Amino acid sequence: MKQPHQDERGGVGEIDSSMDAQAPDSDFDGATPLAQEIADLARRRQVIASTTLPLPSRTRIFTISNQKGGVGKTTTVVNLSAALAKSGARVLVIDLDPQGNASTALSVEHREGTPSVYDVVVNDRELDEVIQKSPEFDGLFVIPATIDLAGAEIELVSMVAREQRLSRALGRFLDEYDIDYVLIDCPPSLGLLTINAFVAATEVLIPIQCEYYALEGLSQLLKNIQLIERHLNPKLRVSTILLTMYDSRTNLAHQVAADVREHFPDEVLDTIIPRSVRISEAPSYGQSVISYDTNSSGSLSYMEAAAEIARRGVPR
Ligand SMILES: Nc1ncnc2c1ncn2[C@@H]1O[C@H](COP(=O)(O)OP(=O)(O)OP(=O)(O)O)[C@@H](O)[C@H]1O
Ligand SMILES: [Mg+2]
Repeated sequence: MKQPHQDERGGVGEIDSSMDAQAPDSDFDGATPLAQEIADLARRRQVIASTTLPLPSRTRIFTISNQKGGVGKTTTVVNLSAALAKSGARVLVIDLDPQGNASTALSVEHREGTPSVYDVVVNDRELDEVIQKSPEFDGLFVIPATIDLAGAEIELVSMVAREQRLSRALGRFLDEYDIDYVLIDCPPSLGLLTINAFVAATEVLIPIQCEYYALEGLSQLLKNIQLIERHLNPKLRVSTILLTMYDSRTNLAHQVAADVREHFPDEVLDTIIPRSVRISEAPSYGQSVISYDTNSSGSLSYMEAAAEIARRGVPR
């Protein structure tokens, strides 16, 4: 039998999804935390398997943004898009980060020179000329980012309608193709690429890492979103806040989660994404955690987050 992963502090970090098949064995006394966790995973899996998610009546366009680096933006884009596509939605991921991490995780070609989002925002190419299908799930499509995009911030400065270039291309694309969700992965900065994402979107999803400093910079981000709303995109709303990398054993994580819930009671999803080894290893296999280890707690959490987003619908 596999052992649960030991984390840095020696605690039980995550239950391997293969374990629950053996849960009924007498090795597990129903009262132990491990057995309880296994039973909980099985229950959550059943709930997810038995629910059908509603599709939106109009395309919902999210930008996943936080100028803080490493808070789980790309991980959220990749796994939410995979969860939504698995549930039957048609999903378009736009990788707007020159690092190209979302393109890597969704296993689409993004070597230098590959037709990409750079050609769309800088060279006036259409999205359907650069789109690729992700091998992950039917109905999951990606506009890849290549390293060429690193120069785009500077090239855009002197261009006409520099803030609207992605929005206009996306509008033309959505006139022709049926897509339920668009998820845009932003770089960790508030430059012209991120502004293009804010102008193209109707909803902002902010991932917040449950760590110290989590709230620092958040008020600046919200101020910038307000400015965009006032001057460039009146339809933009911060609809969703997702707590990520939650370690239930630390008081700090509890405190950060409680603070965020107090400040944003309507926006924060009930679902919290745990810190999970499975989530962090999936990209190195060119996979979302949804296909890499579909029954792990990280995968179930992203499926639960997707379900919440689908059920809540567009905020008024
Ligand atoms: N829930 C999680 N559990 C464990 N590791 C995670 C989790 N979410 C993200 N990570 C890891 O944390 C790191 C940063 O995540 P990610 O790349 O998604 O952040 P980001 O906000 O997109 O970063 P950047 O600002 O550089 O674009 C990655 O190595 C990722 O695998
Ligand atoms: Mg990223």
